[in-house]
Amino acid sequence: MRSIALGVSLLAFSAGAASAAGKLNLYCAAQEEWCQVMARGFEDATGIDVDMTRKSSGETFAQVKAEEANPKGDVWWGGTGDPHLQAAEEGLTEPYISPMRAELHPWAIAQAESAGDRTIGIYSGALGFGYNSDLLAANGLPEPKCWEDLTKPEFKGHVQMANPNSSGTAYTTLATMVQMFGEDGGFDYMKRLHANINQYTKSGSAPIKAAGQGETTVGIVFMHDAVAQTVAGFPVVTVAPCEGTGYEIGSMSIIAGARNMDEAKQFYDWALSAEAQNLALGVNAFQVMSNVAAQKSEFAPDLSAIKLIDYDFKKYGSSDERKRLLAKWDSDVSTLPQ
Ligand code: G6P
Repeated sequence: MRSIALGVSLLAFSAGAASAAGKLNLYCAAQEEWCQVMARGFEDATGIDVDMTRKSSGETFAQVKAEEANPKGDVWWGGTGDPHLQAAEEGLTEPYISPMRAELHPWAIAQAESAGDRTIGIYSGALGFGYNSDLLAANGLPEPKCWEDLTKPEFKGHVQMANPNSSGTAYTTLATMVQMFGEDGGFDYMKRLHANINQYTKSGSAPIKAAGQGETTVGIVFMHDAVAQTVAGFPVVTVAPCEGTGYEIGSMSIIAGARNMDEAKQFYDWALSAEAQNLALGVNAFQVMSNVAAQKSEFAPDLSAIKLIDYDFKKYGSSDERKRLLAKWDSDVSTLPQ
C-alpha cells in the first residue's frame, strides 16, 4: 500500500515538474530530421519545452551575430565547426565545461580547448561527393573519382554544391581546396568548378538530395550525406576524392547571454551523452559521434580509410580568414559567367 501511494505521489511530482520545467530555444544546423529528434528527445528526457529553428551553419552564425545585443537563441547545436569557432572568437558564445567531457574523443575536446571552451565537438565527417549512377550512365559520363574530374568540360551543368556563405559544407569545400592546392590553386579550382555548377543551394546537403531525385548528376557534400541517400534507396554512389579531402568537426555552443542558461547547460550535457547521440542512427545521420560509447553505424564512412588533410580549424575558423575567403569567393568566383 505504501509503495503504491509513493508511486502515485512521484507521478504527480514528475507531471508538475514537466509543466514547470522551463523552455529552450534551440538553433539547429544539422539535417532537419536529426534536429527534430534531438528537440523531441530532450523534451522527453527532461520535460523542458524546445522551440527549434533549423538553418544552415553560415546562416545560424549570421543570426547569432545579428542578435548579439538581444539573444533569442540558447543553444546552437550542429553544423560545421568553423562558424562555431568564429562565434567563439567574436565572444558570441559562452564558455562552459561539461561534466560529460571525459566521455568524448580527443578531437571533440581539442575543438573546445582551441576555443576557450566556448564550443565543443559533437560529430565528425569527411567531405566528398556523390553521383546518381543512373544519370551518369544516361549521359555517358565517366565515373568521377577525383576533385579534378568535376571540372572536366563534359561535367558542365552536372555538378551542384551549396553557397559557402550560407552553408558550412560549402565553406569546408572552399577551405579544403585552399589547403590542398594553395590559395591561388584553390581559387583556380573553384573558378573551373564554377563553370560546371548548375546551382548553388542554400543548404549543404540539398545537392545530394537533388542527385537522389535525378535533378543533378553530382552533388558536393559530406560523404555521410551521400551514404544516407543510398541507404534511403536512391541510386547514389559516394566518392572519397583521390587527391584527399577535408573534414568537419560538427560542433555545439551555448549562446552568450542565453535567457534560459540552466536549460541550455542541461541540453549541452544531454547532447554529449551516448544515449542522445545514438538518436542519430534512427534518422540516417551517419557521422562519427563524439561520445566514445556512442554506437557506430555500419554505413558510416570509415574516416581512417579516407585520405584526410590536416585541416587547420584554428586558421579557417578564424573570423578574419572566414570573412576574407567568403568575400574573395563572392568577388572572384560567383560573379564569373557560366
Ligand atoms: C549536413 C551534414 C552535417 C553538416 C551540415 C552543415 O546536415 O550532415 O554533417 O554539419 O550539413 O549544414 P550546412 O547547410 O551548413 O552545410
